[in-house]
Amino acid sequence: MVTEEINRYKESEDALILAHYYVSDEVQALADYVGDSYYLAKIAAKAQKRTVVFCGVRFMGESAKILNPASRVLLPAAEADCPMAHMADAAQIAELRARVRDLAVVCYVNSGASLKALSDVCVTSSNAVKIVSSLPNRNILFIPDENLGSFVQAQVPGKNFYFSGGYCPVHAALRVADVQAARRAHPEAAVLMHPECVAEVRALADYVGSTAQIIEAAQSSSMQAFLVCTEPGVLYELRRRCPGKTFYPVTSVCADMKQITPARVLACLKEGSGEVLLPAAVAERARRPLERMLALGG
Ligand code: 13P
Ligand code: SF4
Repeated sequence: MVTEEINRYKESEDALILAHYYVSDEVQALADYVGDSYYLAKIAAKAQKRTVVFCGVRFMGESAKILNPASRVLLPAAEADCPMAHMADAAQIAELRARVRDLAVVCYVNSGASLKALSDVCVTSSNAVKIVSSLPNRNILFIPDENLGSFVQAQVPGKNFYFSGGYCPVHAALRVADVQAARRAHPEAAVLMHPECVAEVRALADYVGSTAQIIEAAQSSSMQAFLVCTEPGVLYELRRRCPGKTFYPVTSVCADMKQITPARVLACLKEGSGEVLLPAAVAERARRPLERMLALGG
Protein backbone atom coordinates (compact mmCIF):
# COMPACT_ATOMS: atom_id res chain seq x y z
CA MET A 1 0.00 0.00 0.00
CA VAL A 2 2.69 2.50 1.07
CA THR A 3 4.93 1.15 -1.73
CA GLU A 4 2.17 1.70 -4.32
CA GLU A 5 1.71 5.27 -3.15
CA ILE A 6 5.48 5.83 -3.20
CA ASN A 7 5.57 4.57 -6.79
CA ARG A 8 2.80 7.01 -7.77
CA TYR A 9 4.69 9.95 -6.23
CA LYS A 10 7.94 8.76 -7.79
CA GLU A 11 6.29 9.25 -11.19
CA SER A 12 4.70 12.60 -10.47
CA GLU A 13 7.82 14.00 -8.75
CA ASP A 14 10.25 12.45 -11.27
CA ALA A 15 12.13 10.90 -8.35
CA LEU A 16 14.91 8.37 -7.90
CA ILE A 17 15.20 6.57 -4.54
CA LEU A 18 18.69 5.70 -3.26
CA ALA A 19 19.29 3.67 -0.09
CA HIS A 20 22.38 2.74 1.91
CA TYR A 21 22.87 -0.88 3.05
CA TYR A 22 22.34 0.21 6.69
CA VAL A 23 18.70 1.30 6.34
CA SER A 24 15.90 -1.12 7.22
CA ASP A 25 15.04 -4.07 4.95
CA GLU A 26 11.70 -2.48 3.98
CA VAL A 27 13.39 0.71 2.81
CA GLN A 28 16.10 -1.17 0.87
CA ALA A 29 13.32 -3.18 -0.80
CA LEU A 30 11.60 -0.09 -2.20
CA ALA A 31 14.73 1.73 -3.41
CA ASP A 32 15.83 2.01 -7.05
CA TYR A 33 19.50 1.62 -6.07
CA VAL A 34 21.02 0.22 -2.88
CA GLY A 35 24.73 0.40 -2.19
CA ASP A 36 27.70 1.63 -0.21
CA SER A 37 28.59 5.31 0.11
CA TYR A 38 30.84 5.36 -2.96
CA TYR A 39 28.41 3.62 -5.28
CA LEU A 40 25.54 5.84 -4.17
CA ALA A 41 27.62 9.02 -4.62
CA LYS A 42 28.39 7.95 -8.21
CA ILE A 43 24.72 7.18 -8.94
CA ALA A 44 23.63 10.51 -7.41
CA ALA A 45 26.19 12.45 -9.45
CA LYS A 46 24.78 11.04 -12.71
CA ALA A 47 21.08 11.04 -11.82
CA GLN A 48 19.01 12.89 -14.38
CA LYS A 49 15.94 13.25 -12.20
CA ARG A 50 14.20 16.28 -10.79
CA THR A 51 14.25 14.71 -7.33
CA VAL A 52 16.64 12.35 -5.54
CA VAL A 53 15.32 10.79 -2.30
CA PHE A 54 18.35 9.76 -0.26
CA CYS A 55 17.59 7.08 2.33
CA GLY A 56 20.67 7.58 4.45
CA VAL A 57 22.17 10.04 6.91
CA ARG A 58 22.67 13.76 6.25
CA PHE A 59 26.23 13.68 4.87
CA MET A 60 25.08 11.30 2.11
CA GLY A 61 22.30 13.66 1.03
CA GLU A 62 24.71 16.60 1.15
CA SER A 63 27.21 14.81 -1.10
CA ALA A 64 24.42 13.97 -3.56
CA LYS A 65 23.32 17.62 -3.65
CA ILE A 66 26.88 18.91 -4.07
CA LEU A 67 27.59 16.47 -6.92
CA ASN A 68 24.22 17.05 -8.57
CA PRO A 69 23.13 20.63 -7.83
CA ALA A 70 20.40 20.54 -10.51
CA SER A 71 18.36 17.92 -8.63
CA ARG A 72 16.34 18.51 -5.51
CA VAL A 73 17.66 16.11 -2.81
CA LEU A 74 15.22 15.03 -0.10
CA LEU A 75 16.12 13.27 3.17
CA PRO A 76 13.20 11.21 4.58
CA ALA A 77 14.69 11.65 8.08
CA ALA A 78 16.34 15.05 7.94
CA GLU A 79 17.41 14.82 11.60
CA ALA A 80 19.37 11.57 11.00
CA ASP A 81 22.97 12.67 11.22
CA CYS A 82 26.21 10.71 11.57
CA PRO A 83 27.94 11.76 14.82
CA MET A 84 31.36 11.13 13.28
CA ALA A 85 30.64 13.67 10.52
CA HIS A 86 31.51 16.48 12.96
CA MET A 87 34.57 15.00 14.67
CA ALA A 88 37.14 17.36 13.17
CA ASP A 89 37.36 21.13 13.10
CA ALA A 90 38.47 24.01 10.95
CA ALA A 91 41.01 25.28 13.51
CA GLN A 92 42.88 21.96 13.56
CA ILE A 93 43.01 21.84 9.76
CA ALA A 94 44.26 25.44 9.57
CA GLU A 95 46.91 24.84 12.27
CA LEU A 96 48.28 21.78 10.47
CA ARG A 97 48.22 23.44 7.06
CA ALA A 98 50.28 26.28 8.52
CA ARG A 99 52.76 23.97 10.28
CA VAL A 100 53.22 20.96 7.97
CA ARG A 101 54.59 21.25 4.44
CA ASP A 102 53.46 19.05 1.60
CA LEU A 103 50.19 18.18 3.37
CA ALA A 104 47.03 16.75 1.81
CA VAL A 105 43.80 16.96 3.83
CA VAL A 106 41.95 13.72 3.10
CA CYS A 107 38.33 13.76 4.18
CA TYR A 108 36.24 10.63 4.66
CA VAL A 109 32.82 11.25 3.05
CA ASN A 110 31.29 10.65 6.49
CA SER A 111 31.76 14.37 7.18
CA GLY A 112 29.78 17.60 7.06
CA ALA A 113 29.94 19.74 3.91
CA SER A 114 31.89 22.46 5.73
CA LEU A 115 34.70 19.97 6.52
CA LYS A 116 34.75 18.73 2.92
CA ALA A 117 35.04 22.36 1.82
CA LEU A 118 38.35 22.62 3.72
CA SER A 119 39.78 19.41 2.24
CA ASP A 120 41.87 18.42 -0.77
CA VAL A 121 40.21 15.12 -1.58
CA CYS A 122 37.37 12.96 -0.27
CA VAL A 123 37.49 9.18 0.14
CA THR A 124 35.13 6.40 1.17
CA SER A 125 36.03 3.13 2.85
CA SER A 126 36.06 1.37 -0.53
CA ASN A 127 38.54 3.70 -2.28
CA ALA A 128 40.61 5.30 0.53
CA VAL A 129 43.72 3.11 0.11
CA LYS A 130 43.76 3.60 -3.67
CA ILE A 131 43.26 7.37 -3.47
CA VAL A 132 45.73 8.06 -0.63
CA SER A 133 48.36 5.89 -2.42
CA SER A 134 47.94 8.00 -5.54
CA LEU A 135 48.51 11.35 -3.80
CA PRO A 136 51.92 12.96 -4.34
CA ASN A 137 51.95 14.45 -0.81
CA ARG A 138 54.18 12.98 1.89
CA ASN A 139 51.96 14.16 4.76
CA ILE A 140 48.31 13.24 5.17
CA LEU A 141 45.79 14.73 7.58
CA PHE A 142 43.05 12.10 7.59
CA ILE A 143 39.71 13.38 8.96
CA PRO A 144 37.45 12.55 10.74
CA ASP A 145 37.75 8.74 11.20
CA GLU A 146 41.00 7.74 12.90
CA ASN A 147 40.11 4.04 12.54
CA LEU A 148 39.67 4.10 8.77
CA GLY A 149 42.72 6.39 8.74
CA SER A 150 44.90 3.85 10.58
CA PHE A 151 43.62 1.10 8.26
CA VAL A 152 44.82 3.18 5.28
CA GLN A 153 48.08 4.08 7.02
CA ALA A 154 48.95 0.40 7.48
CA GLN A 155 48.63 -0.13 3.72
CA VAL A 156 50.29 3.03 2.46
CA PRO A 157 53.91 3.04 3.66
CA GLY A 158 56.15 6.06 3.25
CA LYS A 159 53.67 8.74 4.28
CA ASN A 160 53.19 10.51 7.63
CA PHE A 161 49.65 10.49 8.96
CA TYR A 162 47.91 12.97 11.25
CA PHE A 163 44.43 12.34 12.64
CA SER A 164 41.58 14.32 14.15
CA GLY A 165 40.57 11.49 16.50
CA GLY A 166 37.05 10.91 15.16
CA TYR A 167 35.31 7.54 15.28
CA CYS A 168 32.02 5.84 14.46
CA PRO A 169 30.26 5.13 17.78
CA VAL A 170 28.62 2.02 16.29
CA HIS A 171 31.77 0.33 14.95
CA ALA A 172 34.17 1.59 17.63
CA ALA A 173 31.94 0.02 20.31
CA LEU A 174 32.86 -3.45 19.06
CA ARG A 175 35.44 -4.97 21.43
CA VAL A 176 38.02 -7.73 21.07
CA ALA A 177 36.03 -9.82 23.58
CA ASP A 178 32.84 -9.51 21.44
CA VAL A 179 34.58 -10.91 18.36
CA GLN A 180 36.30 -13.64 20.37
CA ALA A 181 32.96 -14.69 21.91
CA ALA A 182 31.29 -14.72 18.48
CA ARG A 183 34.14 -16.86 17.10
CA ARG A 184 33.77 -19.31 19.97
CA ALA A 185 30.01 -19.54 19.33
CA HIS A 186 30.47 -20.04 15.56
CA PRO A 187 33.95 -21.50 14.95
CA GLU A 188 32.99 -22.44 11.39
CA ALA A 189 32.39 -18.79 10.41
CA ALA A 190 34.76 -16.31 8.74
CA VAL A 191 34.94 -12.79 10.20
CA LEU A 192 34.02 -9.95 7.82
CA MET A 193 34.64 -6.45 9.19
CA HIS A 194 34.29 -2.77 8.33
CA PRO A 195 37.46 -0.62 8.64
CA GLU A 196 35.62 1.76 11.00
CA CYS A 197 36.31 -0.83 13.73
CA VAL A 198 39.34 -0.11 15.95
CA ALA A 199 42.74 -1.52 14.95
CA GLU A 200 43.01 -4.20 17.68
CA VAL A 201 39.57 -5.53 16.70
CA ARG A 202 40.41 -5.39 12.98
CA ALA A 203 43.39 -7.63 13.73
CA LEU A 204 40.89 -10.44 14.46
CA ALA A 205 39.17 -10.21 11.05
CA ASP A 206 39.58 -12.54 8.09
CA TYR A 207 38.54 -9.76 5.71
CA VAL A 208 38.23 -5.97 6.15
CA GLY A 209 36.35 -3.83 3.62
CA SER A 210 33.51 -1.42 2.91
CA THR A 211 29.93 -2.67 3.05
CA ALA A 212 29.91 -3.42 -0.70
CA GLN A 213 33.30 -5.15 -0.44
CA ILE A 214 32.06 -7.25 2.51
CA ILE A 215 29.10 -8.39 0.41
CA GLU A 216 31.36 -9.23 -2.55
CA ALA A 217 33.78 -11.11 -0.26
CA ALA A 218 30.96 -13.26 1.18
CA GLN A 219 29.61 -13.96 -2.31
CA SER A 220 32.93 -15.07 -3.75
CA SER A 221 34.09 -17.01 -0.65
CA SER A 222 34.01 -20.81 -0.47
CA MET A 223 33.06 -20.47 3.23
CA GLN A 224 29.44 -21.03 4.20
CA ALA A 225 29.09 -19.01 7.43
CA PHE A 226 30.15 -15.47 8.36
CA LEU A 227 30.33 -13.22 11.40
CA VAL A 228 29.36 -9.79 10.11
CA CYS A 229 31.12 -6.96 11.96
CA THR A 230 29.35 -3.95 10.55
CA GLU A 231 25.88 -2.46 10.87
CA PRO A 232 23.41 -5.39 10.50
CA GLY A 233 21.43 -3.67 7.71
CA VAL A 234 23.90 -5.34 5.29
CA LEU A 235 22.42 -8.74 6.17
CA TYR A 236 19.44 -8.00 3.90
CA GLU A 237 21.66 -7.82 0.80
CA LEU A 238 23.98 -10.62 2.04
CA ARG A 239 21.02 -13.02 2.41
CA ARG A 240 19.52 -11.91 -0.91
CA ARG A 241 22.79 -12.51 -2.80
CA CYS A 242 23.95 -15.60 -0.88
CA PRO A 243 20.76 -17.56 -0.10
CA GLY A 244 22.58 -20.76 0.93
CA LYS A 245 25.00 -19.10 3.36
CA THR A 246 24.59 -18.18 7.03
CA PHE A 247 25.27 -14.73 8.47
CA TYR A 248 25.54 -13.76 12.14
CA PRO A 249 25.41 -10.05 13.04
CA VAL A 250 28.01 -9.03 15.62
CA THR A 251 27.75 -5.22 15.59
CA SER A 252 24.86 -3.12 16.99
CA VAL A 253 22.55 -0.96 14.87
CA CYS A 254 23.07 2.63 13.75
CA ALA A 255 20.08 4.42 15.28
CA ASP A 256 20.35 7.29 12.80
CA MET A 257 20.10 5.01 9.77
CA LYS A 258 17.05 3.33 11.27
CA GLN A 259 15.11 6.64 11.42
CA ILE A 260 14.21 6.14 7.78
CA THR A 261 10.95 4.24 7.25
CA PRO A 262 8.74 3.63 4.18
CA ALA A 263 6.14 6.01 5.68
CA ARG A 264 8.76 8.77 5.92
CA VAL A 265 9.93 8.13 2.34
CA LEU A 266 6.32 8.64 1.24
CA ALA A 267 5.88 11.73 3.42
CA CYS A 268 8.97 13.48 2.04
CA LEU A 269 7.88 12.76 -1.54
CA LYS A 270 4.33 14.02 -0.82
CA GLU A 271 5.37 17.13 1.08
CA GLY A 272 8.74 17.90 -0.50
CA SER A 273 10.13 17.92 3.04
CA GLY A 274 13.70 17.30 4.20
CA GLU A 275 15.27 19.13 1.27
CA VAL A 276 19.07 19.47 1.49
CA LEU A 277 19.95 23.16 1.25
CA LEU A 278 23.57 24.27 1.50
CA PRO A 279 25.20 27.71 1.35
CA ALA A 280 26.38 28.15 -2.25
CA ALA A 281 29.98 28.96 -1.25
CA VAL A 282 30.27 25.81 0.91
CA ALA A 283 28.78 23.60 -1.82
CA GLU A 284 31.11 25.12 -4.40
CA ARG A 285 34.23 24.51 -2.29
CA ALA A 286 33.13 21.00 -1.25
CA ARG A 287 32.50 19.93 -4.87
CA ARG A 288 36.20 19.92 -5.79
CA PRO A 289 37.34 17.21 -3.29
CA LEU A 290 34.26 15.11 -4.07
CA GLU A 291 34.85 15.31 -7.82
CA ARG A 292 38.52 14.55 -7.28
CA MET A 293 37.45 11.40 -5.40
CA LEU A 294 35.31 10.32 -8.37
CA ALA A 295 38.22 10.96 -10.75
CA LEU A 296 40.83 9.11 -8.63
CA GLY A 297 38.57 6.39 -7.24
CA GLY A 298 37.61 4.82 -10.55
P1 13P B 1 30.41 2.35 3.40
O1 13P B 1 29.05 2.36 2.81
O2 13P B 1 31.33 3.17 2.57
O3 13P B 1 30.92 1.00 3.65
O4 13P B 1 30.32 3.17 4.77
C1 13P B 1 29.81 2.75 5.93
C2 13P B 1 29.22 3.82 6.74
O5 13P B 1 29.47 3.91 7.91
C3 13P B 1 28.30 4.71 6.17
O6 13P B 1 27.78 5.47 7.17
FE1 SF4 C 1 27.91 7.25 11.10
FE2 SF4 C 1 28.67 4.95 12.13
FE3 SF4 C 1 26.09 5.34 11.58
FE4 SF4 C 1 27.88 5.04 9.58
S1 SF4 C 1 27.29 3.50 11.11
S2 SF4 C 1 26.27 6.59 9.73
S3 SF4 C 1 29.67 6.06 10.47
S4 SF4 C 1 27.31 6.47 13.11
